[in-house]
Amino acid sequence: MRQKVCEVFDGDSDIEGYSRTLLWKHSVAVALLGKMIYRREFEEKGETIYVAGLLHDIGIIVLDQFCEDEFRLILSKTKTEKKNHTKTEKEVLGFDHTEVGKAMTNNWNLPQELVEVIGCHHNPDNIAQEFVRAGSTLYVADYVCQQKGLGYGDEPIRDKELFKRCLKRLNLTSYALDLIVEDVEQELFKMEKQELF
Ligand SMILES: [Fe+2]
Ligand SMILES: [Fe+2]
Repeated sequence: MRQKVCEVFDGDSDIEGYSRTLLWKHSVAVALLGKMIYRREFEEKGETIYVAGLLHDIGIIVLDQFCEDEFRLILSKTKTEKKNHTKTEKEVLGFDHTEVGKAMTNNWNLPQELVEVIGCHHNPDNIAQEFVRAGSTLYVADYVCQQKGLGYGDEPIRDKELFKRCLKRLNLTSYALDLIVEDVEQELFKMEKQELF
């Protein structure tokens, strides 16, 4: 398994601001942020949200590995036409990385909460009521990491109203969130010093 993970980073290069390493950094940042929101705000361990953060964009990795030409086209269209990744994926392939991620995690028999939050990570308004808290947390964490430029962000055009709705659902203030983000940035800085990215 260790060898397989390393293989994902073999021949990694920067294309239109994307690389697997940058996507990995983004995923770790989202995982840490989601977990800290659960710990500080809900006094829970946040294990599932941590895994959701790590895996939420796994569909991008799959498309990168198995649809190389289309993937390059998606990256360049996203950049030149200033669109979001999911929109160009739909235009080029007819489906997007949230659907790929949902199908894969469902196939691996992972908990339904994980499958659903990955599938709805760009549109948490559509998630089932029982997963609203996890879906909103993942959206907030993903949004903030992209806003802060932590790793690769697939949504250059962010939906601020949706972000505010998620904060409201979580009863999370901007002040509390800012404190959590500061700690996550420090944690990532330490990881960078250890050359984990
Ligand atoms: Fe995404
Ligand atoms: Fe993301």
